[in-house]
Amino acid sequence: LAQGTSPTPPMGWNSWNHFAEKVTDADVRASADALVSSGMRDAGYVYVNIDDTWQGKRDASGVIHPNSKFPDMKALADYVHSKGLKLGIYSSPGPTTCARYEGSYGHEVQDAKTYAGWGIDFLKYDLCGFRDVMRKEAGNDKQKAFAMQKAAYLKMRDALVAAGRPIVYSLCQYGWNDVWEWGPEVGGNLWRTTGDINDTYSRMVEIGFSQVGLSKFAGPGHWNDPDMLEVGNGGMSEDEYRQHMTLWVILAAPLLAGNDLSKMTPATLAILTNKEVIAVDQDSLGKQGDRAWAKGYSEIWTKPLSGGATAIGLFNRDKEPASITLNLREIGLSDTAKLRDLWKGSDVEVSGGKYTVTVPGHGAVLLKTSAESMRAGQDCDRPMSEHLGLP
Ligand code: DGJ
Repeated sequence: LAQGTSPTPPMGWNSWNHFAEKVTDADVRASADALVSSGMRDAGYVYVNIDDTWQGKRDASGVIHPNSKFPDMKALADYVHSKGLKLGIYSSPGPTTCARYEGSYGHEVQDAKTYAGWGIDFLKYDLCGFRDVMRKEAGNDKQKAFAMQKAAYLKMRDALVAAGRPIVYSLCQYGWNDVWEWGPEVGGNLWRTTGDINDTYSRMVEIGFSQVGLSKFAGPGHWNDPDMLEVGNGGMSEDEYRQHMTLWVILAAPLLAGNDLSKMTPATLAILTNKEVIAVDQDSLGKQGDRAWAKGYSEIWTKPLSGGATAIGLFNRDKEPASITLNLREIGLSDTAKLRDLWKGSDVEVSGGKYTVTVPGHGAVLLKTSAESMRAGQDCDRPMSEHLGLP
C-alpha cells in the first residue's frame, strides 16, 4: 500500500491564484502545454493542480462527478500524464469546500478511490467546510475540535493509502494548531503554515518573513508550505517577485506557480526557471533555511545545502536600495568561503570574509558558498571572539 512521497519540495502549478473559480478543463490543458513549451517542466515543475470548483454532484451511489467545466477527469489526467506531468486535485474534509462546492465528508474512501481511478497524483485537502462540523460537534471545546481535525486528515490519508495509488498529500488548514508539529503524523507531505497569499508585496512579505523558526519542522517528505507563488500575476514589480522567489527557495517551500502560464513575460519565466536558484529549493539535504541576521529593513537568511555548501539570501524590505554587508564569520561560515551570485550566474569577490552589495528596493540577492566552505564552529584554533565577529 502506498502513500505519495516528496523527497524534495513539490513543484508545479495550481489554478487558484490566477483562475480561481473560473478554471476549466481547457485552462488546465493549456497550462500543461505551457509547462512543456516554456521549459518549466524540464526545470522541475511537474504537478498540474486543479484547485477548488471542479466538483459536480454525487450520483445515487455517492460517487463524485466533476461539473460541466471538467467533462472527463480521466481523459484530462491521461492528457496531463502524456506530457510527462502529474495531475493534482482538491477537496475538503467538510461537506462543502471554501467555494461551497461538494466536499468529501462521509465519502472519504469513495473519493480516494475515484481519484486513484482517474490517475490523480496530488491531493490538496482544505479544512474550510469542516470548520462548521467542528463548531457543531465540539462547540467551544478546542481540544475536541483539534482532535476532530487530526482525525479528519488521518481518515483521508488512510483512504488514499487504501486506494493504492501514490498521492502526495497537502494539508491546507492555514497553520492552525501548529500543524508543523503533527503534520507528518497524519500523513501530510506538506502543510500550509499561513492563511492565503495574495498578489501584493505586503502580503507576500508578511507570510514569507514570518516563517522564522519553522525550519526544524521541514525535511524530505514533509514540508512547510507558505502558500503558492504569485510570480507573474502582475501585482508586484520584477524585484519584488525576485524577492518572493528567493525567499521561497530559501524556505524549501513547495514551488507551485500561480500565474497564467500561457501568457508569461520573459521576465516572469526567467524568475521561475533559473536553474541555480531552483537547485537551492530542491537541494537533496532537504533543510529549510532560517533567518541569520536582521537590521532595520535588511535581513540575511541561510539554508544549509548538501556537500557542506550554504545558500545565503540578502533581503531588502525597504523601498529604497540598501547596501548590505555580509560578514561570513558572523553567520557561522568560514571567511575564506567563495561566493557565487545565483541570479547573475557569476562568482563574486569576497574580501576579508566580507561581501558588500547594493540590493534593490524590495529586492534580493541569492548567494551560494562553494562546497568546501567550512563552518567557523569547526575551526577550533581561533578565539571565540573571532567567531562572534567581535573586535
Ligand atoms: C482556501 C485555500 O487556502 C486557497 O489556497 C484555495 O484553495 C481556496 N481555499 C479555494 O477555495
